[in-house]
Amino acid sequence: MISWTSPCTVPRDYFLKHVKGVDGIFCVLTEQINQEVVDAAGPSLKVVGTMSVGFDHIDVPVLKRAGIKLGFTPNVLTDATAETTVAVLLAASRRLFESHQHLLNGNWAKFNWGPTWMVGQGLAGSTVGIVGMGRIGQAVKDRLAPFKVAKFLYFDNYINNGKLFRACSVPASVQTPELIVSSMISVAGASKTDFDSLCRESDFVIANCALTAETREIFNEHAFGLMKSNAVFVNTSRGGVVKQSALVDALRSRKIFAAGLDVMTPEPLPTDHELTKLDNCVVIPHLGSATVESRRDMAELTAKNILAALEGREMPAPIP
Ligand code: DGY
Repeated sequence: MISWTSPCTVPRDYFLKHVKGVDGIFCVLTEQINQEVVDAAGPSLKVVGTMSVGFDHIDVPVLKRAGIKLGFTPNVLTDATAETTVAVLLAASRRLFESHQHLLNGNWAKFNWGPTWMVGQGLAGSTVGIVGMGRIGQAVKDRLAPFKVAKFLYFDNYINNGKLFRACSVPASVQTPELIVSSMISVAGASKTDFDSLCRESDFVIANCALTAETREIFNEHAFGLMKSNAVFVNTSRGGVVKQSALVDALRSRKIFAAGLDVMTPEPLPTDHELTKLDNCVVIPHLGSATVESRRDMAELTAKNILAALEGREMPAPIP
C-alpha cells in the first residue's frame, strides 16, 4: 500500500507518479480523478473510492468507460453537514464574525448596546428556501424547523422532475424502505416551487444541491437580483453552483443582506480575496463534514467500498 500521510493535499506530480500500477485509489475531493489518472495508473486500476459525498472531482464517464468501479460516502456526513449549514446561516444572519471583529478592535465600547447596532435577521416567522432537497437539504430543514420558521420552500432538479430518490444521492441499492418513507415525510414539510419563486420569496436561501451541469452557477446575477434585500444566502454544497462575481456584487451593493459560505471558488480561497473583505460575508474553509464521527465513518465507508470492489462484492455505496 502506498499512502500519503501528510495532512496537506498530495502534490499532483507525486500522486501521478505513485498511482502507477495500483489496484485501487482512496482519494478525497481535492484530487481530480480523470483520464490523466487512469493513464498514470494503468490497467491494474479497478476501483476508486472517494471519501466524500460530492463527486464532481471525478470524471465519471471516463472511469466508467475504463471499467473502473466508483464508490462514495453518502449518509454518513448528512448530520455534520446539516449542522455546518445551520452554523454558517446563524453566523451570517446574526453577524457573529463581524461583531467579534468589532469586539476585538474596540468598537463595542463606542457603540455599547446601540439599539440598532449589529442587528441581524431572525429565523422566527421567516421563509426558508432550500435548493437541493436531498438528504442534507432535508436534514437542514429538520434542524431549522424548531427555530419557528414559518414556511419552507424547495427546488430540486430531480424532485421537480418527479424523480424523488435520485435527489437523495443514494443509489437504489442502499435505499431502505425507512429511508424512502422518512425522506417523503420530510419533503412533505416543505412546498415545492420553481427556482425563481424560491429566490424571490425566501428570507434565507440555502444551496444544498450537487454541482452538475444543471446547477453550475445557478446562483448568478439573475438569482441574486430576484432575492430580497434582507436575504441571507448560504452555501454548503460546492462553490461552482455560484457565479462568485455576482455574489460579491450582491453583497457589496447590499442587494442581499449577507452570505454564509463553507464552499467557494477557488479552494483554498486566497487570503486577500474579495470575499474575505466583505463584512457581510462569513467564509469558512470547507468544513461541512468535519466532525470526528463523520470523518471516521467516511473513511470506513470508503475502505469498505474499495475492499468490496476488489473482492468482487457489491460496494456498499457505489456512485450511481
Ligand atoms: C463532500 O463529502 O462532498 C463534502 O463536501 C465534504 O465536506
